[in-house]
Amino acid sequence: MIAVSGGDYYLAPDLYDAVYADVVADIEPHVTLMRGAGGPALELCCGNGRLLLPALAAGVPCDGMDFDPHMLEDLKAKLAMRGLRTQVMQGDMRDFSLPDRYALIAIGFNSFLHNLTQANQLASLRCCRHHLVSGGRLVIVAFHPSADKLIEWSGPEKLVKDLPHRDGSVRLWDHADDDRVEQVRHMTRRIEFTDASGGVTRRETVHFSLRYIYKPEMELLFRVAGFSSWQVRPAFASYMDPASVAGDRPLREGDNLEWTAWRD
Ligand SMILES: C[S@@+](CC[C@H](N)C(=O)[O-])C[C@H]1O[C@@H](n2cnc3c(N)ncnc32)[C@H](O)[C@@H]1O
Repeated sequence: MIAVSGGDYYLAPDLYDAVYADVVADIEPHVTLMRGAGGPALELCCGNGRLLLPALAAGVPCDGMDFDPHMLEDLKAKLAMRGLRTQVMQGDMRDFSLPDRYALIAIGFNSFLHNLTQANQLASLRCCRHHLVSGGRLVIVAFHPSADKLIEWSGPEKLVKDLPHRDGSVRLWDHADDDRVEQVRHMTRRIEFTDASGGVTRRETVHFSLRYIYKPEMELLFRVAGFSSWQVRPAFASYMDPASVAGDRPLREGDNLEWTAWRD
């Protein structure tokens, strides 16, 4: 069963900006990808614009779609503040219907992994394919699971980030309950903000799930969804390190992969 349109993301926009302030390695590659779209482009699951805003600021036109109204409201406020304009739409990647067809649809930063079932994965791929012009491409950036990391994540709660935030810090502790049969990671994330003197000013606990995808499985999903050609390359090893951009080397477990699938 596929729930349609209007959903709530697990993070409010202000929390999103705070906990992903260090995620930078994909921004420049995303702008370059969008610049080479060769026609109208759409960023699906655009959130509050971490990737969309730099593209627009670089003069690269791109529409944005997301299903979370709070993220979209925040995106619109940021667009207005920066004097940028684009078409921003609320819609669900599994079931959207637009009059436009795109040369490029991009789904970055593991957002495709929010599809928790095969039915949802296929519905999203088919919907994207339907919205591509002939010869258009779908680009998905998502991590490839690594056996070591899956085991490591399933252990006790771990401090995974300690970032400067305003005059204090934001800290993140993650714990994963991994369902390695269904390939779904159920995450519990504790977030703690502190002030300049180290006093805790805010505590949040959030939950989210991601379904990770192995390479042969992704290829099969593309095939079943009606794509006839695709390619994959390692994008970068770490979202936090722009120097980790992979270039031309064989894929490794744990890589962040860039998948490209073309519509005939
Ligand atoms: C990891 S964030 C990525 C946001 C932005 N692209 C970025 O890179 O910062 C995932 C986004 O996917 C959106 N999302 C999750 N499931 C969705 C769905 N079924 N349809 C549309 N958007 C969805 C969430 O609301 C969230 O904004």
